[in-house]
This record gives sequence, C-alpha cells and structure tokens, in this order.
Amino acid sequence: MMNNQKPIVIGHRGAAGEAPENTIASFALAFEQGAEGIELDVQITNDGEVVVCHDLTLDRTTNGSGLICEKSWEELKTLDAGFWFSEAFTGERIPHLRQVYELVPRGHLINVEIKHAYEGKMEKALLALLDELDRWEDTVISSFDHKLMLRIKQDQPKAKVGLLYAGNLLDHAAYAGQFGVEVNSLHPYQHSINEADIAAAAAAGLAVYPYTVNEVADYKRLISAGVTGIITDYPARLRELLG
Ligand code: G3P
Ligand code: MG
Repeated sequence: MMNNQKPIVIGHRGAAGEAPENTIASFALAFEQGAEGIELDVQITNDGEVVVCHDLTLDRTTNGSGLICEKSWEELKTLDAGFWFSEAFTGERIPHLRQVYELVPRGHLINVEIKHAYEGKMEKALLALLDELDRWEDTVISSFDHKLMLRIKQDQPKAKVGLLYAGNLLDHAAYAGQFGVEVNSLHPYQHSINEADIAAAAAAGLAVYPYTVNEVADYKRLISAGVTGIITDYPARLRELLG
C-alpha cells in the first residue's frame, strides 16, 4: 500500500556526512539543509554534565583521549571536536546538551540517544535537564538499552521514549506493546523493517524512524513504506527528494 504521508528529515549526529558529527556546526547545517529534527548521542562527565558525543571515549572525534565519564566539563569544553573532519571545522567543541537546546527552536525534534546508562547517572542528569528546559514535547529519548527506556518512562511519564534495535523482530509493534507503558517510536536498522511491519506500527500508534539511511533508493523504499521520519547523514539529499 502506497503511503502519501511524507516522512520528516532527521539529521544523524547533525549532518554527519558533511560536518563533524555531534557538533553545533553539524546541527546547524542539518537545519540549514531543511531537516525537521536531529539525532544526537549523549555521554556524562564526572561532574554530572550531559555532553554530546557518540563514543564513550574522546579519541576518535576530538584531540583528547580517554573516557568522557572520567573528565570534568571544564576539561572537555576546550577540546577540538572538528579538526579531524576537515580544517574548516577546527575549533568546533564538544557541545553540552544544553547548548543544543539553545540552538534548536521549539517545535523541532531532538532525538537524544543514550549510549550508556552510567549506573543511573545518565537518566538522572538528562531528565533533570529536560525538566529544567521544559523540552519534553520536542524530545524523544532512544537507546538500544530497552530496560533503560522502560525505567525512564516509569520515572518520568512526560518523557517520550523510542526503541533502537538492529534485529529483524517477529512482530515489531507487538514487541513495543509488551512494555506496559507508552512507547513513542520504533528506531529500527533500516533493513530490519518492512512495509507490513511499518503499517502495523502505525496502526498501533507508533512512529517509525529507521537509521541510518543515506542512499536515494533506500529513501524511496522507506518513503513508500510510510515511515514517520528518516535518520540520515545527508539531510540535504533527502530534503531534495521530498521537496
Ligand atoms: O539513533 C540511530 C543511530 O544513531 C544508532 O546508531 O551508532 O549511529 O548511534 P549510532
Ligand atoms: Mg546515534
């Protein structure tokens, strides 16, 4: 069945194909390119600050090294998180999550992916920040750790939670239905979900945001299958196709 609803464009780690991932420059570029939302990954510092970085360590994407959870925000905020991508981005910093919310106007989706629970410290700090900023409406928290998603929804009913997964489940919508709390969205690996799964999810009131989709043929397949949004490293490419 052809679906006429256009999916929203969600910039993966910003516009990670064209700017250093998870930096303010990358998020700004995603919105300049017409994204309606962004996906980003969070870690926690040893002084309880929520910072934006995919890896648990600094080595791949900054000029620092070691575990983020062993550093203070003061130590992290002067590191260079852009030079490795290209010279033009030298001087980009690791953002505090608060800085991303300052950049993004209300009404745009911010998908915060939790990579590690840090023994409960991450959810505590993240929920406190979202409460302070009152950005519940704009935010979907997702993780491959589904017990963490359940815990967050039980602790804070205002939080929207999404399930990240790579496996080809027998029944995607039924799986979300087992949680006993409202699940906002499915975030499957793009090849783990088909048109029938997507229709069943929609019928169950679930949004579907497959990741990470960069090829035009895959955009077309998922648009036609009726997904709610597409997580992509190239927001401009998807925007051009969608018009
Ligand atoms: O949230 C979708 C996607 O980002 C999950 O994988 O490794 O790119 O964070 P990863
Ligand atoms: Mg991610």
